[in-house]
Amino acid sequence: MLRDTTKFITFRLLDKRRFAMSRNLHHKSHLDTSPPEYNGPLHPLDKSIFRKAIPILAARVPASQTAKVLNSELTRSFLVGIPKVRPVVSNPADLQGDRLVLLRISNQAELPPEPLEFLQKHANGFVDYELELDYDYWTASDILQAVLPEPLRAGAPVGFATTGHVAHMNLNDEYLPYKKTIGQIFLDKNKLIKTVVNKLDNIDTQFRVFDMEVLAGEHNFVVEHHESDCRFTFDFSQVYWNSRLHTEHGRIVGLLKPGQVLADSFAGVGPFAIPAAKNKSCAVLANDLNPSSFKYLSKNVEDNGVSDLVRVSCEDGREFIRNAFQRVFDTPFPPYTGPKLSKTLARKLEKQGKRVAETKASDSLPPRKTIDHFIMNLPDTAIQFLDAFRGAITSREMMDAYESKMPLVHCHCFTRELEEDKAAADIKERVEEKLGHELKEYSVAHVRSVAPNKEMYCIAFRLPSEVVYG
Ligand SMILES: C[S@@+](CC[C@H](N)C(=O)[O-])C[C@H]1O[C@@H](n2cnc3c(N)ncnc32)[C@H](O)[C@@H]1O
Repeated sequence: MLRDTTKFITFRLLDKRRFAMSRNLHHKSHLDTSPPEYNGPLHPLDKSIFRKAIPILAARVPASQTAKVLNSELTRSFLVGIPKVRPVVSNPADLQGDRLVLLRISNQAELPPEPLEFLQKHANGFVDYELELDYDYWTASDILQAVLPEPLRAGAPVGFATTGHVAHMNLNDEYLPYKKTIGQIFLDKNKLIKTVVNKLDNIDTQFRVFDMEVLAGEHNFVVEHHESDCRFTFDFSQVYWNSRLHTEHGRIVGLLKPGQVLADSFAGVGPFAIPAAKNKSCAVLANDLNPSSFKYLSKNVEDNGVSDLVRVSCEDGREFIRNAFQRVFDTPFPPYTGPKLSKTLARKLEKQGKRVAETKASDSLPPRKTIDHFIMNLPDTAIQFLDAFRGAITSREMMDAYESKMPLVHCHCFTRELEEDKAAADIKERVEEKLGHELKEYSVAHVRSVAPNKEMYCIAFRLPSEVVYG
């Protein structure tokens, strides 16, 4: 990220005596920009210790000549060349006068004859400067390396995952004595982050919510997060959210055909349901048993303008599956009339009288009364819920409606099998056992590696009609 270097770098003219002293100490063209060793308090950090003055030489160059000096082969390798430091600055002692071209040397004698001659010709002499770097100059990683004891430096945390304004990490035990310092450094160095948390090991097994401890910043977990052109608001400490599933959310939504009907049994705050409705005009039943997920799912449906397409519920996944067929059949979704129009386009069409034609067309289309897809993303136990499909279609009319278009089920799960073939066989076997029926049409997709011996997959299979017809 580019930053305005003027905020954290100051330099000033040194008087001749100070420079003469420093000149003797710096007869090398490599500038040491590493942060100073830190021996101050750990929390809060004493940032003033991170000040470092580097004596350098600058050429006083008229504005008309700076491009020439900067671009010359003779001088290029002597320019200051420090990341985030501009090589040309105005002269604080003479703001209207010559520019100062900063060099990576502290002494004229370090210049070979040709560059020296070139600069003597194009510059009005040399002046001595002190480049001051401070806490804001160094990266989080630089500061951490200076603060942590030597044995902890190599494995120091280098980053974090973000959800909205919250940065979260899983610190190993040996870093826990430094957790507040680490949190503060990451907070200071990332302007979009307002809260840094450490995820604790205990996870609520039912709703998959992590315990977390605030290391730095605000105690505010209600985040706004953007994914797939949708806005999600939720309390990160109360609901399940995993930004690593972004690709999987996109993959599944990508499989849906516009206007299809979707039943999401473990919907969370809506990362499948809302993009499906918003980007594919799908009609959705979205369910989650966690009351907080339900609350934010409802809010997100409204905030993303898809209230007409998404119906939310807060019940057990098994009950949801058993009722979903009947619900959509009894209260169908309106017909799909084509992609959802933006407000501007809708207004334009309305003006041209075209909206009327669209409404008329919808009259002749059938309402959506059957489900095309079930999504079951509760990988720990989703397979256990599959028996809920047994006998879920109870009436002759429903059977007729589903004839030749049984829903596809996308069921997420874990396996300890590491090879894809063995994993697929293991998952298929477990699914068949729960359904009490053999799978004929199915595919298995690897989602992600969760732990050294734990892989997440998604099996997609066509529900056998023998299973659902009661
Ligand atoms: C792994 S999360 C997936 C959430 C969301 N689909 C996603 O991809 O981020 C599983 C969700 O299932 C919900 N859940 C857990 N047990 C449930 C149950 N018995 N019935 C319905 N929802 C349940 C949890 O609250 C959680 O939101």
